[in-house]
Amino acid sequence: MPKSITIHAPDDWHLHLRDGDVLKGLVAHTAERFKRAIVMPNLVPPITSVEMAAEYLDRILAVVPDNSDFEPLMTLYLTDNTTAQTVFNAHQSCFVKAFKLYPAGATTNSDAGVSDIKKCYPAIAEMQKLGVPLLIHGEITDADIDIFEREQVFIERVLKPLCEDFPELKIVFEHITTSFAVDFVNSTSHPIAATITAHHLLMNRNHMLVGGIRPHYYCLPVLKHQQHQQALIKAATSGSEKFFLGTDSAPHAQNKKETACGCAGMYTSHAAIELYAEAFERADKLENLEAFSSLNGAKFYGLPVNSEKLTLVRESWDVPEYYQFGTNEADNTSSHRLIPLFAGEQINWKINGN
Ligand code: NCD
Ligand code: ZN
Repeated sequence: MPKSITIHAPDDWHLHLRDGDVLKGLVAHTAERFKRAIVMPNLVPPITSVEMAAEYLDRILAVVPDNSDFEPLMTLYLTDNTTAQTVFNAHQSCFVKAFKLYPAGATTNSDAGVSDIKKCYPAIAEMQKLGVPLLIHGEITDADIDIFEREQVFIERVLKPLCEDFPELKIVFEHITTSFAVDFVNSTSHPIAATITAHHLLMNRNHMLVGGIRPHYYCLPVLKHQQHQQALIKAATSGSEKFFLGTDSAPHAQNKKETACGCAGMYTSHAAIELYAEAFERADKLENLEAFSSLNGAKFYGLPVNSEKLTLVRESWDVPEYYQFGTNEADNTSSHRLIPLFAGEQINWKINGN
């Protein structure tokens, strides 16, 4: 077993950084590990214009630590009303890298999402023309579709027809959770890739539900059957260029998670690359960690591979019980606490120098 592994600096191709006084702590965790990150636009209100993205980018850059050259890559939130002109403006801006499609009601802050994808066809046609990627939260939201089957039904009802209508549209199928998604991405010649989270590689629905319900393991798309977890592990560690790292780290205050109707999202940015190393080690595929974390995503987005290097060492450390959520250090009640994944437990990999 290697004691350390050195890879080109990785990127996080799916990240929630939120806004306001929690931004600084979240950016610090990501900037310690990743050179770049695709920043999700599901704020309240959502980031729907280049101007809003520029202002959000400024707020993020203002809290990047001095010793870091972390680069946020911005996205715009697709709505029923997004115009082809907005797509054109985004492409011109250079700092907006993609659009994010949330089916209305699918997840946290998705009320303004797309009600019928056909309404977005003029904007999507412009994305195809300009080579702007469409990032998709792939879940059907119809009330009669079982929550564990929302991804597979989405593939049939929305994704396949979309690929047929726009054969050259660059698509990232975000945070895939099923063998159906793996099989679709592997089998099609469409320019489509998929991100996979560390938590879906390390866990399945038993972790969330056996022995008691664990709200900190609840995210969307929800953890699935172990067989799906195995399919994701196989895909991520295969070395295939169609799969790359996207943490979907999605922080919520402790009191919003530990409640009768807890919100969806796991926080993993405190240990993101370390958790992926753990998953790849378990699969005995550490040699493919670099392709998944540092090469495949950059290639898909048409960006250079980072020249910097990152070394991970196999050394255990204790995850804190919580992190301060926001800058008000005087208040450490549950509305100002962030519970990280594996709080109070050990992680086997560590960033060199930490
Ligand atoms: C995300 C969030 O909290 O913003 N939640 C989650 O469970 N992943 C939204 C999302 O990506 O679905
Ligand atoms: Zn997300």
